[in-house]
Amino acid sequence: MSGRMSRRAFLGTGVGVTAGAAGLAFAGATVLKPAEAGQLLRSRIPLPEPYQMPLPIPQVLKPVSTDATTDYYEIVQQTASLQILPGVRTTAWTYGGTFPGPTLVSRSGRRTVVRHQNQLPRPVVVHLHGGHTPHDSDGYPGDEILPIGYTGSMAGMAGMAGMPVMPGTPVTGSRTYTYPLDQRAATLWYHDHRMGFTGPNIWRGMAGFHLVHDDEELALPLPKGDRDLPLMITDRSFAADGSLQYPSLDQRLLHLPGVTSGYMNGVLGDVVLVNGAPWPAHPVDGLHYRLRLLNASNARRYRLALDPPPPGGNGLIQIGADGGLLAAPLTHDSIDIAPAERFDVVVDFARYRPGTQVRLVNLLGSATTREVMRFDVSGTARTSDDATVPARLSVISPLDPTRAAVTRTFLFQNTEGGWAINGQEYDPAKPLARPKLGDTEIWRFVTDFHHPIHVHLAHFQVIARNGKAPGPYDHGWKDTLDLRPAESAEIVTRFTGYPGRFVFHCHNLEHEDMAMMADFITE
Ligand code: C2O
Ligand code: CU
Ligand code: CU
Repeated sequence: MSGRMSRRAFLGTGVGVTAGAAGLAFAGATVLKPAEAGQLLRSRIPLPEPYQMPLPIPQVLKPVSTDATTDYYEIVQQTASLQILPGVRTTAWTYGGTFPGPTLVSRSGRRTVVRHQNQLPRPVVVHLHGGHTPHDSDGYPGDEILPIGYTGSMAGMAGMAGMPVMPGTPVTGSRTYTYPLDQRAATLWYHDHRMGFTGPNIWRGMAGFHLVHDDEELALPLPKGDRDLPLMITDRSFAADGSLQYPSLDQRLLHLPGVTSGYMNGVLGDVVLVNGAPWPAHPVDGLHYRLRLLNASNARRYRLALDPPPPGGNGLIQIGADGGLLAAPLTHDSIDIAPAERFDVVVDFARYRPGTQVRLVNLLGSATTREVMRFDVSGTARTSDDATVPARLSVISPLDPTRAAVTRTFLFQNTEGGWAINGQEYDPAKPLARPKLGDTEIWRFVTDFHHPIHVHLAHFQVIARNGKAPGPYDHGWKDTLDLRPAESAEIVTRFTGYPGRFVFHCHNLEHEDMAMMADFITE
């Protein structure tokens, strides 16, 4: 934060927070291993019993117009009064009035143009997570959409306490994002990316799905239609009046980013929402279902498992990762999913006796956060199922790490009162990499804490963890890597297509807002 008041000057001491992840720790060093990537913020309202609410399915957004190459959409960002917990209303910040926002569905290679109008009281930035998107539509944190009449823009303003001077092009009222979507079928999501305030904005509801299909995927006999379920998992915390509570330093979300010192590791809620409903239940037939699991939580990691497991186990058949289909299915009893990661899985409910209630549980949670949702298998047996999981799903060409033009190492660590990459709190004046378009690069991530690390623009392949083979959840094309305490991981990637300024950052949103982000510039 050179030239400005340093974060630590106004973030207070951070003592007790920093202790959990103190000091430089390269892989192999002995460090404390915090069990949870955050601090629980307890709700102050009686919580409902789980499995009373139906699973909401976000509406698929209809284009306002379409032509030979392009589908055009409009989204109005607005506050909305939602019924999330029984008997109370919750004010949310939404895309189009719902949480999650509407689902966009695109065809690979067909341009999608989305005009976002900001009718919220604060600046917003829209990022398509997992999109291979040119700089000017990627939701760079300086490219704000200001509310009409708003005067407190961060972009271009020097001297705002604790905030870097942001390059960028703020606009007022609305912005049009153009997504070429020249990419594989995948489960993408869009969410807010406001500089310094992504955590509270997403917490208030600013996230939705954007699904991309392609011919290869559509030709497969995978479950489709209402047996292809996007599941956005978030944890939240509610105040006594039903409002969402979040420990922002500046509750007005005007100037001061970040959370109070006790929550610096991350904010964890005690209510698990799936598609915006607390611990919902969903009826299923004894057939194959595709579950597009997205962890859209600020900081919480989950270990998702079916309870009971089907006879013989291996109930979760993974078919895809962040960046689309795997080459071949992989079976799991449980799946570790860090913030922003996606796992596409197929579950065959024919493996359960009709009438079974199958809970999706979180083995890393306790009490209310151990429950996620429930599938109620219908009482009548089904015989015909047009869906299967083929043994071959796609072709994934491995990137060749021996052809890497460069290996870059990034150390993710805490500072006194913030979070840094290579010792640097977010500073757009100091990009940490300048990859050449077309080059293969190895990026090595090292840490002493939990950090889900996300790179914009390029998907990557994990090639090693702690010098050994990638883990069970590292397969396929990824855009977010679940880096754990005392780990080092290597990815191989290739930046293509679009020159310009992009970010990579920790997707623990409290870490991101408290400066664990850096620019890279492709050229
Ligand atoms: Cu999902 Cu830079 O974010
Ligand atoms: Cu992203
Ligand atoms: Cu982090």
